[in-house]
Amino acid sequence: MDYRRFFEDAIDQLHAEKRYRVFANLERIVGKFPRALWRSSEATREITVWCSNDYLGMGQHPKVIAAMHDASSRMGSGAGGTRNISGNNHPLVELEAELADLHDKEAGLVFTSGFVSNEASISTIARLLPNCLILSDELNHASMIEGVKRSGAEKRIFRHNDLAHLEELLKAAGRERAKLIVFESIYSMDGDIAPIGAIADLAEKYNAMTYIDEVHAVGMYGERGGGITDREGLSHRIDIIEGTLAKAFGTLGGYITGPKSVIDAVRSYAPGFIFTTALPPVIAAASTESIRHLKVSQEERRLHQQQAQLTKHVLAQANLPVMPSETHIVPIHVGDPELCKKASDRLLEKHGIYIQPINYPTVPRGTERLRVTPTPFHTNELIVELKDALVEVWTALGIPFSKDSTPVPESNNRVITLAVSKAGG
Ligand SMILES: Cc1ncc(COP(=O)(O)O)c(C=O)c1O
Repeated sequence: MDYRRFFEDAIDQLHAEKRYRVFANLERIVGKFPRALWRSSEATREITVWCSNDYLGMGQHPKVIAAMHDASSRMGSGAGGTRNISGNNHPLVELEAELADLHDKEAGLVFTSGFVSNEASISTIARLLPNCLILSDELNHASMIEGVKRSGAEKRIFRHNDLAHLEELLKAAGRERAKLIVFESIYSMDGDIAPIGAIADLAEKYNAMTYIDEVHAVGMYGERGGGITDREGLSHRIDIIEGTLAKAFGTLGGYITGPKSVIDAVRSYAPGFIFTTALPPVIAAASTESIRHLKVSQEERRLHQQQAQLTKHVLAQANLPVMPSETHIVPIHVGDPELCKKASDRLLEKHGIYIQPINYPTVPRGTERLRVTPTPFHTNELIVELKDALVEVWTALGIPFSKDSTPVPESNNRVITLAVSKAGG
């Protein structure tokens, strides 16, 4: 049998569907975020990254880097084992206490990534509940879907953020049956927010457990950076709050927080937690530093929201098809995988702007997009530069602008500058 053929065919299929992924070879530059070096086959160039999930630039914060240096000089690089076998390092224990406090929960448990935390926790919680029915939002992240699948539990998918549909499914299951509602606070491709309070009301009414993914909100929302549940005073109404250390906190790893008994059960039963090496002390120490900083500092959150609003405003003024978003995420509709890739390539090659194309299966076919993530470090000047580059790319490739109107010509930058000063200050 020609084994390789199957793999080559699989790759050919991705090429045929115009969704073969290429990774840009980047090198981040400390102190110059969001600038980075792009190493292409021809040359190495400095470019601007507009699609990083290091949403607040904490990956380069001096305190976070210092914590890493300090921990590595005292404790070395790796953890040395699983949590059970010599890998349970002190910074990790501290980090879990910090996370429990962040979300006002009894306990926390750290995993090697947000993906693993969802997959391991959802599957274990549902397996430990007899005859559990999982109710899962249709737009949940792949890691949650994997958790649901691995649990082996029966599942019902409710239409995105549709409370009436969720209630219908809860009612049909009855109050007596074990039920787990799994959903996200911010959906990262569209930037919309779940009706968390109303979902908690339904959970109470029908006696269901709740599990929320706050991956795209922790650090960025709430008085202490505890996410949307923190901002809306709802932490106590959700059983399990899951998050990542890899986005706004700028490091690596994932976690859950919740009641002691649930956390202890996941710790004791989840293969994805038990049979893998612990997070290194350097990462744990840096994460704790980042969380502690964002628990008290409002400046990053304020600037983040300000620059995100400004970006939306400036791009929309230029008639670029900015999709509606309630949050810091700025999706720009393209609607075709090939055009999306071409737009991304042209932005990088001609304008030195890196925005990865977002194609199926990350988003539904026909809704391919560029997903822009402004940070506190994307200045007003960078925003105007982005707008000019996008207008050039949209015009050159014939991608539709919104409202079929003519794009704002580059010479008309005075209007945009006024918008910048009005909206951004
Ligand atoms: C909603 C959601 N949950 C979980 C994850 C996984 O988190 P991590 O990148 O820490 O593995 C992601 C990753 O992008 C995500 O978007």
